[in-house]
Amino acid sequence: MSKIVVESSPPLRGTVRISGAKNAVLPVIAASLLSGQKCILEDIPFLNDVEVMSEVLVSLGADIKKLSNMRMEVNSRNIDNYEAPYELVRRMRASFLVLGPLLARMGKARISFPGGCAIGTRPIDLHLKGFSALGAEITMGHGYIEASAKKLKGDRVYLDFPSVGATENIMMAAALAEGRTVIENAAEEPEIVDLATFINKMGGCVKGAGTDTVKIDGVKELKGCTHTVIPDRVEAGTYMVAAAITRGDIIVENVVINHLMSVIAKLKEAGVIIQEVENGLRVYAPERVKAVDIKTLPYAGFPTDMQAQMMALMSVARGTSVIIETVFDNRFMHVNELRRMGANIKIDGRSAVVQGIPELTGAPVKATDLRAGAALILAGLAARGRTEITDVYHIDRGYTDIEKKFQSLGGKVYRI
Ligand code: EPU
Repeated sequence: MSKIVVESSPPLRGTVRISGAKNAVLPVIAASLLSGQKCILEDIPFLNDVEVMSEVLVSLGADIKKLSNMRMEVNSRNIDNYEAPYELVRRMRASFLVLGPLLARMGKARISFPGGCAIGTRPIDLHLKGFSALGAEITMGHGYIEASAKKLKGDRVYLDFPSVGATENIMMAAALAEGRTVIENAAEEPEIVDLATFINKMGGCVKGAGTDTVKIDGVKELKGCTHTVIPDRVEAGTYMVAAAITRGDIIVENVVINHLMSVIAKLKEAGVIIQEVENGLRVYAPERVKAVDIKTLPYAGFPTDMQAQMMALMSVARGTSVIIETVFDNRFMHVNELRRMGANIKIDGRSAVVQGIPELTGAPVKATDLRAGAALILAGLAARGRTEITDVYHIDRGYTDIEKKFQSLGGKVYRI
């Protein structure tokens, strides 16, 4: 079992290129099931989660080829299986995103129930509500969900919460349904817009993605296309916080600045200097940051996927910050680990009160989920001494070449 070791590091300097977005590429790979032709996907981060999604498609009969270190080809012409088994779905919840496209393409899908995970209970009721509205019959038994419909028919679907996954799954099912589907209170995340762009490139008709009302006019079939996924805004945000916590001066390349507005606003409020430069953003932190309050919200609010990293930064800020997590019900697992490094954090329900201290100290800690793991690397960069992080498979689910990227900026991050 590998570990990541982080040693107290000098201020980070240099340029880091941000990879394609994990949370954009997973639904895009799933959506390739909608087409009977080849799709070429570019700027693919070959992460563990991408591997699992590829395995799911292969198990359904799709043909997947890695074309180069950032390109892949997905050909779903010969899919002949409509079941995604427990062994794959349990490795990654997002495998559930094949339900919508499989149902649309095959008229039937059987997927293992994804269950909860470290950051919360994570139900799928909103996905199922959408499929039912489109006329699918849903049954559950033996840990599996089965959905079937001779032909899906468009309808209005109101989401009680703007769920990213439910919006994506329903959009994909609706792409081949008869007539118009309208998703109300839809998620507005950039990854939704990217999926809509991909479906439209295949010949689909999705309008309004990026707003709270998404309209999908179903088409008879979808063709192949070439698509470059958007840059990973959470990876970008993580390196921006790394610059802030080490009082460094870095450039993050390959970013969409609009996708980072809330993160930029909060870092600026904390005293970090952020400037647009030719190929990205310069992030410069001349001194110890000030405490700021944070409340996670659906996009365009502050992303829950950046909450743990900001908490690491606030642990060494001047003053006290209040961090409220509203998206997931159990996303404070990193608090105990940060406390092991000396952080002064109190939790009351969904709020954490972080009293900044001048310096953390390195300690053995555990990555409890993907973003929690990233937060521990950030904390370790700024801590006195050595931090040893276990369960780093969580980190590898979402960050490409993490130790190499940090090393190129002067960060002392190693894998042993
Ligand atoms: N929810 C329901 N019912 C549903 C679906 C969701 O109640 O049917 C609730 C969830 O329990 C949660 C909230 O809605 O409390 C938000 O869940 P959402 O469905 O929006 O999240 P997701 O699609 O499961 C994606 C990302 C997450 C990211 C969230 C929120 C992917 C593969 N995952 O998850 O990414 O935190 O949106 O932005 O896109 C990560 O990358 O570390 C990560 C966890």
